[in-house]
Amino acid sequence: MRRYAKRVAQKVDKLSKEQVETLLDMVLEENEMFDAVMESVNTGLLICDKSGNLLLTNKTAERLLPFNATRVNVAEQRAQATPVWNIIADSDISDFLRSVYDIPKNHTSEEFTLETAGGSVRIIVVTALPLVQKKQITGTLIQIEDVTEARNQQTLLRRMESLASLTNLAASVAHEIKNPLGAISIHIQLIQKALKKARKTDGLLPNSKFVENYLDVVNEEIGRLNKIIVDFLFAVRPIQAKLEPVNPNAIIISLMEFLKPELEKASVELKLEMIEKPPNLMLDVALFKQVIMNLAQNAVDAMKNGGILGIYTQVKNDHFIITVADTGEGMDEKTYNRIFEPYFTTKAKGTGLGLTMVYKIIKESAGEIDVRSFPGKGTVFTISLPVPQKDRRSLEFGGVKN
Ligand SMILES: Nc1ncnc2c1ncn2[C@@H]1O[C@H](COP(=O)(O)OP(=O)(O)OP(=O)(O)O)[C@@H](O)[C@H]1O
Ligand SMILES: [Mg+2]
Repeated sequence: MRRYAKRVAQKVDKLSKEQVETLLDMVLEENEMFDAVMESVNTGLLICDKSGNLLLTNKTAERLLPFNATRVNVAEQRAQATPVWNIIADSDISDFLRSVYDIPKNHTSEEFTLETAGGSVRIIVVTALPLVQKKQITGTLIQIEDVTEARNQQTLLRRMESLASLTNLAASVAHEIKNPLGAISIHIQLIQKALKKARKTDGLLPNSKFVENYLDVVNEEIGRLNKIIVDFLFAVRPIQAKLEPVNPNAIIISLMEFLKPELEKASVELKLEMIEKPPNLMLDVALFKQVIMNLAQNAVDAMKNGGILGIYTQVKNDHFIITVADTGEGMDEKTYNRIFEPYFTTKAKGTGLGLTMVYKIIKESAGEIDVRSFPGKGTVFTISLPVPQKDRRSLEFGGVKN
């Protein structure tokens, strides 16, 4: 219909009055349909011209965006030629929209947290797209989406996941304390028996060290119980992450500098390949150090006769990827399946909590961890951390590996 109307409109001077009326009806109908679509979509839309002046908005945009005025009068805005960033009451969103015009891009998007008048917090994503008409960029289409529910859902899922791992952890602790408790109980029974016997006979115990020996065992087992509880508390302690923008490369490099003597002693050669100009990540420095330390320590432990520890960083699909690879003994399937379990260790002096913590910290930082292991050849741990929205734009200039 649109094409037909266009064709007819070109010959408007040759049309009869009735035909012009029909044509106008068609255009009006089309316009109404366009209005109806604009007003019923769940996405906020703003259309601006090349200088940022507002040409059109819909109700959702007015509901989601904080405007200076309660009601946006597009006709007035057009007459005053005020750019859109000057009529928005949130300075972050204003700055973002202005930057879209300062540095034109095909597609740019950013997330904002807004406090509503009612005191609740909403998360919105603002996306700017070029508006193309007749193969020319004639303005900008700004899209606003409310992602609060989606984000809440993610947090809920993460919480449920940590609750499930807490249940696992509690089960492991119950299992762990069984052995020392059993040993304590047996030794107390032995002491009781000996005391009973002594009372019935001459009052003397089998030998002077008898009770002391059994009590030593009891003491030792109590010490073990204590360690299990302390470790447990350490593992379940809620992580209070103090997130701040940090350069992950710099932290890795300084940690490795610190580990150098230990690596040399273990005949481990270090290979570092870091992405140039890394984006800043929102991380807790102390916890992030703990992750890298644990992985590096495990790698060294796995290379009893020396080998190569490789740490590589790169950016892929808005994620910062850290790879920690070793040329050590690798793991069989049985070990591989259990490495993140609390207290699982194959080492005489291991607590088995190293990777549990690593997993917890990465999940808490909204990241993912993946492991591949090749028995006799080595193991590769891959960590993926999201690059914060506002740092994604700069990636296009810095995504090269040296
Ligand atoms: N790079 C690796 N190569 C081979 N096996 C590994 C590697 N990393 C972890 N593992 C296996 O996973 C187990 C669990 O690791 P985790 O770091 O949780 O505990 P741990 O190293 O044994 O003890 P801790 O970290 O307290 O010293 C290890 O005992 C080992 O069997
Ligand atoms: Mg470890």
